[in-house]
Amino acid sequence: MPDTIVDIRGLRKRFGDNEVLKGIDLGVTRGEVIAIIGKSGSGKSTLLRCINGLETFQDGALTVDGEALKHHDAKAMRALRQHVGMIFQSFNLFPHLTVGRNVMLAPALVKQRAAKDGEAQARKLLERVGLAEKFNAMPDQLSGGQQQRVAIARALAMEPAVLLCDEITSALGRRRHDLADGHARDGLRTQGQRPRGLHACRAHP
Ligand SMILES: Nc1ncnc2c1ncn2[C@@H]1O[C@H](COP(=O)(O)OP(=O)(O)OP(=O)(O)O)[C@@H](O)[C@H]1O
Ligand SMILES: [Mg+2]
Repeated sequence: MPDTIVDIRGLRKRFGDNEVLKGIDLGVTRGEVIAIIGKSGSGKSTLLRCINGLETFQDGALTVDGEALKHHDAKAMRALRQHVGMIFQSFNLFPHLTVGRNVMLAPALVKQRAAKDGEAQARKLLERVGLAEKFNAMPDQLSGGQQQRVAIARALAMEPAVLLCDEITSALGRRRHDLADGHARDGLRTQGQRPRGLHACRAHP
């Protein structure tokens, strides 16, 4: 098992004439927590999207857990996303599903987790982010910060080896900010068999 879980060398990404990533080098070891700070539009989300294969790039090399990204291989990309979790800047909760079902969906579909186990795990994770009583609520009945906390629980439910967090605390208050940091670190350490890498991205702490 390689000690470097994310390895990026000379990464270049442009949208048309706009070169956003200009030769990024970054190594993340297992269990390491990294924050990327930069002004709006500097390319933080784009970098995270490259790491989980949502964006292609023009030049450079990027490996996750020793594997190069194979953008043209749908099966390989699905496998990658099973161990690279992402919490999006805009939360992206499924609006037609309750909070509990949002957390339970991916483990049930992708990991074939039994409904009873999935529900127990979802309730535990929601309790940890302070939302135990919202299990049956719909996303549009939640505040922005609460939606963001559901998104954290949902990502942790997949027990990812790498967790990409795109300004996950932007809608949270200062106290919750520290709490979320703790939950994420703790969740990554205790949920699986091995230490996990958390890759955090926060422009406006
Ligand atoms: N799909 C796209 N097509 C064209 N340009 C894009 C696209 N996505 C991002 N960009 C451009 O790439 C640059 C970096 O955007 P990105 O979203 O990565 O910034 P960011 O650092 O995450 O900003 P913020 O702090 O506001 O979230 C911006 O100039 C943006 O306009
Ligand atoms: Mg962004």
